[in-house]
Amino acid sequence: MSTALVTGGTSGIGAAFATELASRGTNLVLVARDPARLAETAEDLGTRFGVEVEVLQADLDDHDDTQRVADRLLDPARPIDLLVNNAGFGLHSTLLGEDIGVHERAINVMMRAVFVLTNAAARAMVARGSGRIINVASSSAYITMGHYSAIKSYVLTLSEGLAVELRGTGVSVTAVCPGWVRTEFHDRAGIDASKLPKIVWVEVDDVVREGLAASAAGKVVCVPRIGWKAATVLARLVPRVLIRWASGILVSSRRK
Ligand SMILES: NC(=O)c1ccc[n+]([C@@H]2O[C@H](COP(=O)([O-])OP(=O)(O)OC[C@H]3O[C@@H](n4cnc5c(N)ncnc54)[C@H](OP(=O)(O)O)[C@@H]3O)[C@@H](O)[C@H]2O)c1
Repeated sequence: MSTALVTGGTSGIGAAFATELASRGTNLVLVARDPARLAETAEDLGTRFGVEVEVLQADLDDHDDTQRVADRLLDPARPIDLLVNNAGFGLHSTLLGEDIGVHERAINVMMRAVFVLTNAAARAMVARGSGRIINVASSSAYITMGHYSAIKSYVLTLSEGLAVELRGTGVSVTAVCPGWVRTEFHDRAGIDASKLPKIVWVEVDDVVREGLAASAAGKVVCVPRIGWKAATVLARLVPRVLIRWASGILVSSRRK
């Protein structure tokens, strides 16, 4: 039986990955901050699917906590076959703000921790000659919506760079780039998503199904749903000035 470690596995996209993996008989290690929610999710998935669910309470904004998760990934006695780097949060604070604390947290959780955990998992997996990594990026990586886009484009480029280094090792990395998904993400970040057209929304189950299929097939980039695939291809082709113009409209439409 294989084991997957899912960061942010208690809510939204991470919880959906955890549920789908458990339903396929995969043991889990769930990482998040809220201990009650971790215990509840572990109990629920363990009971429903008869898999082992370990919990690792960690704040990925904290370097020591992140290292504990990296150490778990490096433990040769308890190998992790799949890492899902998913924990994250919405960020629509202006780049001109005086208080840069939220930006630093975002860098720690969605960039630094993604790198540290990817590095640990990849080293352990390469030594074993097998393993898979899924990094949850975003379709925002293709546009210019402030720091969130910059951070998610880092995740996308990091994954592509790693894929180059992993050639021939038996280990794969896949960046999953969803459009908008209904989770706790927008409310937690104070983002008003109510004015967004229906067409931009992607079902969480489609993100997970397509993400896992792409990972199993060794694909480096996965953009779930055909409409978003087309949009991201187009975003790479049009002049950047158009991307910045469209991004400006999106940024102003979501302010509460
Ligand atoms: N929803 C969207 O529209 C969308 C679209 C594209 C990409 N994404 C990406 O998808 C990922 C998951 O987002 P979601 O929509 O599923 O959000 P969500 O429902 O708010 O879930 C976020 C998860 O991450 C955990 N988390 C947050 N901060 C953490 C920290 N400092 N340390 C450890 N765990 C932390 C949360 O648990 P605790 O609070 O207990 O720590 C929770 O389990 C993120 O990387 C996000 O950027 C989301």
